[in-house]
Amino acid sequence: MDDRAARLLAWFDSAKRAMPWRESRDPYLILVSEFMLQQTRVATVLEPFQRFVQSFPTIEAVAAAPVEDVLAHWSGLGYYSRARRLHEAARTIAAAGRFPASIAGLRALPGVGDYTAAAVASIAFGVPEPVLDGNVIRVMARTLACGEDPGRATTRRRLREAAAIWLDAERPGDSNQALMELGATLCSPRAPRCVACPLWSDCLAGRSGSAERYPPARAKGRQELHRRTA
Ligand code: ADE
Repeated sequence: MDDRAARLLAWFDSAKRAMPWRESRDPYLILVSEFMLQQTRVATVLEPFQRFVQSFPTIEAVAAAPVEDVLAHWSGLGYYSRARRLHEAARTIAAAGRFPASIAGLRALPGVGDYTAAAVASIAFGVPEPVLDGNVIRVMARTLACGEDPGRATTRRRLREAAAIWLDAERPGDSNQALMELGATLCSPRAPRCVACPLWSDCLAGRSGSAERYPPARAKGRQELHRRTA
């Protein structure tokens, strides 16, 4: 039997870092965390996240606030356009009267791209959609020993298909977070700790001692994917 999803989840359950939004499946809290994590590391997000959700406990509270208040609560995070988009998304959701639960519905919100839609849909609503952030790209490129440019749509499709294999049907959100967590911890860009990795037996690059070669360095001048690594 294919035990890959179970193996990854067992590792995640024992190794995952505590994060306040991991205590909940409230789509609002997940949305805020994923907006903050779009360009910022987990450690930097922890304090601003707590502050933000204390002041704005619901999506309706964000929607009702003047944009200046929302921007003021974004301090420490930078990239303030994310806060403006979050405010717009909150107003869209409040006006509709319901939180979108599908990939298409989430994707239609301001500030929500493929990555954020997949993260929120899987974590909050159990939709089995793989996320592909910079960390997952690295992990998957290594399992496949894929030397293709991850900036290309064809490569990303391959990597997304590879990530889907690791998703547990019952807990796709945790599986996605496990792949992100692996990339942020063991499967680091330099000196990955392959001996401790739950994916090792399925990882072509890890098994041949060449993990650091993947993914290949990006050509300069192309659009950046998410750069956050931890
Ligand atoms: N990066 C973005 N979202 C994350 C999450 N939910 N867990 C771990 N890393 C993440």
